Amino acid sequence: MGESEAGCDLGHNWNNYCEDRKGAVRFQGSGRGDTMKAMTLGFTVLSIVLVAWPLPGDAADRKTPTAPEAFLTMANPMATTPDVLQEGKSLYDNRCSKCHGSNGDGKGSATKDLDVKPRNYTDKGLMQTIPDGQLFWIICYGSDPDTTEMKGYKKKLSEEQMWSLVHYIRSFAP
Ligand code: HEC
Repeated sequence: MGESEAGCDLGHNWNNYCEDRKGAVRFQGSGRGDTMKAMTLGFTVLSIVLVAWPLPGDAADRKTPTAPEAFLTMANPMATTPDVLQEGKSLYDNRCSKCHGSNGDGKGSATKDLDVKPRNYTDKGLMQTIPDGQLFWIICYGSDPDTTEMKGYKKKLSEEQMWSLVHYIRSFAP
């Protein structure tokens, strides 16, 4: 540990992140040696997130939940290899593009009747305000169930698949 960043330390156990919501909360308060470091980093990232997000011009009724701090400070634990991107792409094309758009602009064919539309993942400025762990967490648990059609995929996809989706989503705004 010691030298490594909080995100990397968290990364050692990433297979357990998505077990259930309770797991996420317990995880946030774990008494590990790197807790203070993670907290400091967490507060820094959180302040940036609070200031920068939601952006002006965003749908007024967008109620996307915010992931626990421990997730906001995480980087994607998987390397961006061609295989990983290819896996992300085929999952995305099959399961996500009808809403998020095959090019990530959020204008897929199934969005016409949605009150809250998906955001534009080709917008680099926007994507820089959303941490990897936040993307992962929403894919895992879904967004606000009362106002959006974004369901959680934790029963359908492995965590590895969800992290490869995060990589693929990032590739819309390189
Ligand atoms: C039925 C339409 C639909 C499908 C299918 C769908 N999404 Fe979404 N998704 C949405 C909507 C609408 C939102 C916006 C929710 C919000 O703003 O809170 C969203 C939000 C998200 C977010 C949160 C990012 C942000 O804007 O803060 C991520 C990440 C995401 N989706 C990934 C995926 C992935 C990956 C898949 C496929 C495995 C998928 N979605 C499938 C409709 C969909």
